[in-house]
Amino acid sequence: MTKTTFAERVLKWFDHSGRTHLPWQQDRTAYRVWVSEIMLQQTQVATVIPYYEKFMTSYPTVQTLAEASEDAVLSHWAGLGYYSRARNLHKASKLVCADFNGEMPNTLDEMMQLSGIGRSTAGAILSLSQNQKHAILDGNVKRVLTRYHAVEGWPGKSAVLKQLWQLAEHHVPDKRNADYTQAMMDLGATLCTRSKPDCEQCPLHQNCQAYADGNPSNYPSKKPKKTIPTKEAVLLLVTHEDGSTLIEKRPPTGIWGGLWSLPQFEDEEKARNWLRQHFSETPIVFEHYAKITHTFSHFHLHAETYKVQLNTNYKTGIMEADAYLWYNNPHEFTGGFPAPIKKLLAPERTLL
Ligand code: ADE
Repeated sequence: MTKTTFAERVLKWFDHSGRTHLPWQQDRTAYRVWVSEIMLQQTQVATVIPYYEKFMTSYPTVQTLAEASEDAVLSHWAGLGYYSRARNLHKASKLVCADFNGEMPNTLDEMMQLSGIGRSTAGAILSLSQNQKHAILDGNVKRVLTRYHAVEGWPGKSAVLKQLWQLAEHHVPDKRNADYTQAMMDLGATLCTRSKPDCEQCPLHQNCQAYADGNPSNYPSKKPKKTIPTKEAVLLLVTHEDGSTLIEKRPPTGIWGGLWSLPQFEDEEKARNWLRQHFSETPIVFEHYAKITHTFSHFHLHAETYKVQLNTNYKTGIMEADAYLWYNNPHEFTGGFPAPIKKLLAPERTLL
């Protein structure tokens, strides 16, 4: 006996538990299905039904919609929200009349030329109204597929989305495509719900990876919050009487690796200790100079810069280490500075 496929299980479930009496399931023209799909984006079925009925009474065909004023169309939408959906629908109806001879397009590519119709909506319209073989990938289907296949990663990420489209295409049956499309929406809306999915009733649970792992609610993965940490730092702009500035070469790896920067410390105390150690005397000036904020891929850097002037003309000690230089003439300097450091040094340069 051959294995029951994903689609066979879904269709079998649809035959006893799917929805078949929704208004847009009667007299299924592409136009009627289109209007329903747009209204159902971000809006519950129960809310949509009265709006849909009234809209269809006022605009029974794409021509009647195209001839209406935008105000009139928008007034039918009042209360549904996301009004760009109505404006796009109206705009697209005019295009259908102008460029498609008043007939709704019947290919995916043409359908997707209409304002407000993306790949999933185009697939749904052609599948539901004409039984064409197309996959859909709305929020419901994303939930079912990420759970069934334990797909990690936020579906808004293009690599994850691509994988989900491949899986959606893979499961699409050759026959009964319209029923399958409706079934996937119904499954997602009634059993494979966002919270507390009713897995026991689900026709897919035997092969569902998330069910096996006991964690369906973990899918789909949430949009990652970009909460990267902030690192505080202190930079010293140590200037010499002759106008030169002490610069330090960064280690070859890590941020600004191999570039020249200013001596950097975790905090002001460490900076002062370092000054005492290398220059032995108290600076005649130690004043706040500028705050640098810079975002790297893994953290924000908040660096306070202090200007330091030493009451001496010696440049010894520390200079024995290769990592330090008294920077004076930019024309003779061949190293590179990170952009924020370059900016800090620029006003000094103009004083030279
Ligand atoms: N959500 C989006 N399309 C739908 C449809 N055809 N039936 C029920 N819910 C839906």
